[in-house]
Amino acid sequence: MAVRSLLVRMKEEPLLIDPPVDPDSSAVSERLLEDQDRTVLYSSLNGGSAVGNLFSTRDKIARYLGVRKEDIMEHLMTAMSEPRPFEVIKKGEWMDNVTEDFDLRDLPIPRYYPEDGGRYITAGVIVAEHKGKRNVSFHRMMLIGRDRMAVRLVPRHLYTMHQAAKAEGEDLKVSICVGLCPCGLLAAASSLDYEIDEFEVASALREATLGEPMRLAHGPNGLLVPAGCDYVLEGRITSAEVDEGPFVDITGTYDHVRRQPEIVIDRICHVNDPVFQMLQPGGNEHFLLMGMPREPVIFRTVRQAVPRTHAVRLTEGGCCWLHGVVSVSKNKEGDGTNAIMAAFSGHPSMKMVTVVDGDIDVFDDREVEWAVATRFQGDRMLVVPGAAGSSLDPSSDGTTCKVGIDATMPLGKERLFRKASLD
Ligand SMILES: Cc1cc2nc3c(=O)[nH]c(=O)nc-3n(C[C@H](O)[C@H](O)[C@H](O)COP(=O)(O)O)c2cc1C
Repeated sequence: MAVRSLLVRMKEEPLLIDPPVDPDSSAVSERLLEDQDRTVLYSSLNGGSAVGNLFSTRDKIARYLGVRKEDIMEHLMTAMSEPRPFEVIKKGEWMDNVTEDFDLRDLPIPRYYPEDGGRYITAGVIVAEHKGKRNVSFHRMMLIGRDRMAVRLVPRHLYTMHQAAKAEGEDLKVSICVGLCPCGLLAAASSLDYEIDEFEVASALREATLGEPMRLAHGPNGLLVPAGCDYVLEGRITSAEVDEGPFVDITGTYDHVRRQPEIVIDRICHVNDPVFQMLQPGGNEHFLLMGMPREPVIFRTVRQAVPRTHAVRLTEGGCCWLHGVVSVSKNKEGDGTNAIMAAFSGHPSMKMVTVVDGDIDVFDDREVEWAVATRFQGDRMLVVPGAAGSSLDPSSDGTTCKVGIDATMPLGKERLFRKASLD
């Protein structure tokens, strides 16, 4: 489903920006950061249409999926453990426009911050196959020429596939999809076992929420990609390395320049009247797509330690990556500490977790702080120095000091701690 149909399904009325926007200015970021809850549709960014803040809140993702925001995590958890087959259809919508005569610099791809290394794709999902195994993952891609980009490959599955292809003296064939639905986006952002096909996870999520499978179609290069995304850029990751960055990461701080692989694009396919999706770096949508796929993993790990685990949220204030909240009902004293330890092992990048009782809404920051203020004392904090944390955390000097806050009520004394109610 391409972006214009996604907007219709969500009944979303975007803020329309009609005047031409220079892709090399920071005008896109200015507008997207002004009100991050608001979807913004540009009709002339470098002459083309582009959308930002499309899935920038949990409510918008929930609205698209037709579920409550509190239930997204559980659907995603089931989809990760029970992937479902997708449907292959004959023709992708993007087959209406296929060209080998293009210049990537003509696309509506912006620069976001003045010190960025260049204009770059932020909502691009790369599909690759190697020896019969498919991988689907997000990667930022910086424009460096008519048909070339630098791609950031963290050493995970696509990196492994590329290393293997390189060792065989081959380029790695890829398709870059832009304009995916939240099922595809969340699955692509999930770190699953190598054997699991992210498109089957996306399909399970789509079936459970929207009652239909993901629909994929073969592009001209033979790779299967979502039939309805706006753009498919077909190409190869070569063995050449180029400078990549600097760019702003989820922490809102600058990353440094690295030598990274080059992608050469051979062909561009797009739907009629396409819209290029953008994710504001260090913005809420970036946070949510990074963090939401980690929440089911944290939930499962904590539930093994404390059976009555209710909810998990990686908080926007902690970039949906470094800080989290977990709600549990303790069976015995000490369960709060066990929940803290389990949460850290479920998401090793997290450096602060707050554990609250089941009567606290983890989606309400004020209520979580109220629990900390009224149920917690600083000398009961779990402090774990010298742990491995997130490489994205600018305050880490290699290792991380983790902090766990057990803001649960002591068992047997609930009457003293419960919020007064009029019922
Ligand atoms: C918005 C967004 C941008 C991302 N950018 C990159 C990136 O530039 N490079 C990278 O290696 N991973 C990036 N990631 C993380 C990967 O997509 C994610 O870790 C994914 O799970 C990796 O897939 P894999 O487990 O199949 O290797 C990004 C994730 C999101 C949500």
